[in-house]
Amino acid sequence: MSQAPAPLSPEQRQAVDSGDPRFGFGVDVGGSGVKGAIVDLSTGTLVGDRLKIKTPQPSTPTAVAETVGEIVAHFGWTAKIGITVPAVVAGGVVRTASNIDGGWIGTDPYELFGGQVTATGMSVLNDADAAGLAEARFGLEADQLDGVVILLTLGTGIGSAILLDGGHLLPNTELGHLQVGDSIAEHQASARAKEDHDWSYEKWAGKLSRVLAEYEKLFSPRLFVLGGGISRKSDKWLSLLSVDTPAVPATLRNTAGIVGAAMAAEAGLRP
Ligand code: BGC
Repeated sequence: MSQAPAPLSPEQRQAVDSGDPRFGFGVDVGGSGVKGAIVDLSTGTLVGDRLKIKTPQPSTPTAVAETVGEIVAHFGWTAKIGITVPAVVAGGVVRTASNIDGGWIGTDPYELFGGQVTATGMSVLNDADAAGLAEARFGLEADQLDGVVILLTLGTGIGSAILLDGGHLLPNTELGHLQVGDSIAEHQASARAKEDHDWSYEKWAGKLSRVLAEYEKLFSPRLFVLGGGISRKSDKWLSLLSVDTPAVPATLRNTAGIVGAAMAAEAGLRP
């Protein structure tokens, strides 16, 4: 860490000390940063600032777990903790590693993180799944959640969460890895693909539309919810999409993973 993090604010200290189950804790492990914060589970908002530490490179399981431990220790949090990883987590095992060190495949994340943090409960889940849980509870209106809703995080890769009737999650859908034409979806329509190829919004929106059309064909969703950093600039590209299904930007933005992680821990979710 290059700079010492700011000390806890009085409201953060109070949330930690109170032991009130209204407060939870989420950590979002991403390709570039590991972010953690106290979450108010009644509102889906962060209590004070999050702490972000650069993802260690290489992003080996041990190095990342140590960073997670550092973040949790900073807050002095010992109650339930939710942690997201940018990978499939099924049966308590990390199964994939696309934008994170390959050493993650086959690891037991509970053992790994459990070696670094002391918590009364832990949930480890896919990052986009966490974002989906958070958007379903705190971002979308009840009537937007009828039928199938597909949330996508457009970042380094494409993460996906499929939600059914009121926000029930089908975990680990990995729609970013669906083959669309010559390559997988995330190589064509992630925010990174746009950046790497220096595509205009028009060009990129065309690529994204092609990918969304494929998802439309397979799942007949009622709504696409599009998140990730690039959703902040959705006024530049949302209207350029050419799909029949309505698409809206995600509302929780960069807190969705943290909030969803804390929600998963509260619910005792163990995908
Ligand atoms: C991974 C997903 C992850 C997404 C966003 C993809 O490359 O396979 O598990 O949700 O990136 O981080």
